[in-house]
Amino acid sequence: RVVGELARPVFFVGFMGAGKTSVARRLARTCGVASVDMDTYLERREGKRVKEIFAQAGEDGFRAIETDVLRELAGKEPLLVSCGGGVVKRDENRAILRDAGFVVYLKVTADEAKSRISDTSTRPLFQDLDVARKTSEERLPLYAEVADLTIDTAGKNVATIAREVQSAL
Ligand code: S3P
Repeated sequence: RVVGELARPVFFVGFMGAGKTSVARRLARTCGVASVDMDTYLERREGKRVKEIFAQAGEDGFRAIETDVLRELAGKEPLLVSCGGGVVKRDENRAILRDAGFVVYLKVTADEAKSRISDTSTRPLFQDLDVARKTSEERLPLYAEVADLTIDTAGKNVATIAREVQSAL
C-alpha cells in the first residue's frame, strides 16, 4: 500500500531492542510517510538526553514528559511513531494509544534484545539482563492489551517485519 492510504497514525510498541525505530523508518520509506522516534522527539523538545532526564527527574519525571509527548504526537497527521519501550506502563498512555491509531506490538525476548542493542548505556532501564528479563515479562500483558497487531520478531529482519506490518494496514 502507498502513501495517502495510511488512514491513521501507526504506533510501534514493544521492549527496548524490538526494532521499533528501524521498522518504522523502513516502512516510512516504502509508504512515503514521515516517521518519528518518540525518544528522539522528546530529547529535542527537552534539550536533554533520556539518560540525563532519568538522572535528574527519575523515572516518574521521564514518564510525565513521555505522556505529554505521546499526546502531542497522537494529535498529528498520519505518521509512524516508534514509542519508548515503557510507554505502556501508564494506564493513561494505553488509553491514548488505543484511541489514536493502529498499534503494532513487536515482540522480542530480553535476551534477543540484548544481542541487538549495541549500546545499553543510553538505556537506563537496560543495565542488567536479569532485571530486563523481569521487566519485559511484566510488560507482556500491557503490550498485548494495546496491540492491534502482534509480530514475533524472532529470526526476522527489518524488511520482513515491515512487509508484515504493511500488509496488515
Ligand atoms: C524505556 C525505553 C527507551 C526509553 C527509556 C525507557 C523503557 O526507549 O524510552 O530509556 O522503559 O523501556 P526504547 O524502547 O526506544 O529503547
